[in-house]
Amino acid sequence: MIDPKASPKLIFEQHNPAPKTPSLDLPQLDVPEIAIDSDLLADDLLNLPEVGQLDVVRHYTALAKRNFSVDANFYPLGSCTMKFNPSINEAAASMEGFTGVHPLQDDDDAQGMLKMLHETQTWLAEIAGLDQVSLQPAAGAHGEFTALKVIRAYFNDPKGGNAPQRRKVLAPDTAHGTNPASCAMCGAGVISVPSTQDGYVDMDALREMVDGETAAMMITNPNTAGLFDGQIGEIAKILHDAGALLYLDGANMNAIVGVARPGDFGVDIMHYNTHKTFSTPHGCGGPGSGPIAVKDFLAPYLPVPQVVQNDDKTYSLKSNLPKSIGKVRSFFGQVGVLLRCWTYIAAAGPDGIRNIGETAVLNANYLAACMEDRFAMPYFSKAEKKYCAHEFITVPKDLLAKGVTLIDIAKRMIDYGIHPPTMHWPVHDCLMIEPTETESKATLDHFIKVMDTIADGIEEDAAFVKAAPYHACIDRLDEVAAARSPVLTAS
Ligand SMILES: Cc1ncc(COP(=O)(O)O)c(C=O)c1O
Repeated sequence: MIDPKASPKLIFEQHNPAPKTPSLDLPQLDVPEIAIDSDLLADDLLNLPEVGQLDVVRHYTALAKRNFSVDANFYPLGSCTMKFNPSINEAAASMEGFTGVHPLQDDDDAQGMLKMLHETQTWLAEIAGLDQVSLQPAAGAHGEFTALKVIRAYFNDPKGGNAPQRRKVLAPDTAHGTNPASCAMCGAGVISVPSTQDGYVDMDALREMVDGETAAMMITNPNTAGLFDGQIGEIAKILHDAGALLYLDGANMNAIVGVARPGDFGVDIMHYNTHKTFSTPHGCGGPGSGPIAVKDFLAPYLPVPQVVQNDDKTYSLKSNLPKSIGKVRSFFGQVGVLLRCWTYIAAAGPDGIRNIGETAVLNANYLAACMEDRFAMPYFSKAEKKYCAHEFITVPKDLLAKGVTLIDIAKRMIDYGIHPPTMHWPVHDCLMIEPTETESKATLDHFIKVMDTIADGIEEDAAFVKAAPYHACIDRLDEVAAARSPVLTAS
């Protein structure tokens, strides 16, 4: 019997020396044929398989169908903002005028590219309510690292902050793992600020922790529990009164973009995750872009090169900035991602940008309100008017008490064509759900139905759910063994 779930053969296993359709159609020679000098021939021929064109096409189409993507299915991966990447972004990013620019080309020859980068800087500064932007960092974590270097350069500068003893950075206990990691990479000590039971910064603890050695507080707002901390103005005041700075991890800007400007609530410096907020398909480590935005007093320390507009309205790359922290990335930054960001902002316009933030929050609250009866939520309660921002977490204790684990629920979601959400973070046994603004009400309603069906299934027959998935191309993997004893093959 043929197993319908059997793994497809590798292309090498499909080697067929007499394929029905030729693998490669070379055009007729229009020059005399000459044998290659035997000295130039390698001893070992490359072991390439011979496979007919149709079989090659079928092979790769079958593999491509196994991909999971936002273009095909709902992807509510909390903290990742897996939103739709409009096709116009791809059209812009693949325009020859951009793809053909060499990074070492003279500024005069790359005016279109520099104009696009300059406009992106200007728009990101405006959306942040801050003064200057560097597009150099290659991802969110790299933005954090770059920003911390800028903060250090400012405090080390006798004409800047003039407080080299400020080497401590505070971060709430809900902080993303990259925050303490970036601090460690910069040699800054990181101190965890506790949260209250409601998930907000414990202000009394914060007041006690800020001192003359504090350089900054790194805060994600809305935080990783999906809550916007309305104390942010007061938090900024506590830091500023003590001579320290407020840094915003802007990975969750999707919730507030066009609605609130970080500069207006006291932020001095922040990074964007443009691949999230301004839609580039990402995941598994790339591709990303993490521009940083700063108040004017931090601008002299930004990385080089910076894109500037000259008096005659032309654009150039400026590298001669004596107080700059230097280069953090080669050439212009992640141009492909920045082009998608430019296109997304240009296509949305100011009203569209505001609509992104408002709809992302509306969609998340709609889902949470429809799901809370079956999926307990520590920080959300429609009855108590406790709302979330663009994402929310559920700790489905009642369902877990029936003997299933979060991974069982996640695997069952795959059966319904839904990408499992982020799990066990920021608290144990939680699912973190982020629908984004790009999903329709019909998709959200479908998701609610699926989650209800899964909850019913657990109540009726938990053992059945524990053996999911049933409709995926591969069964349950031993993920611990796969992580601990990987068997890597390349052929
Ligand atoms: C809150 C937060 N901060 C920082 C990051 C790091 O961003 P990146 O993955 O682009 O390095 C993430 C990524 O998920 C995040 O959610």
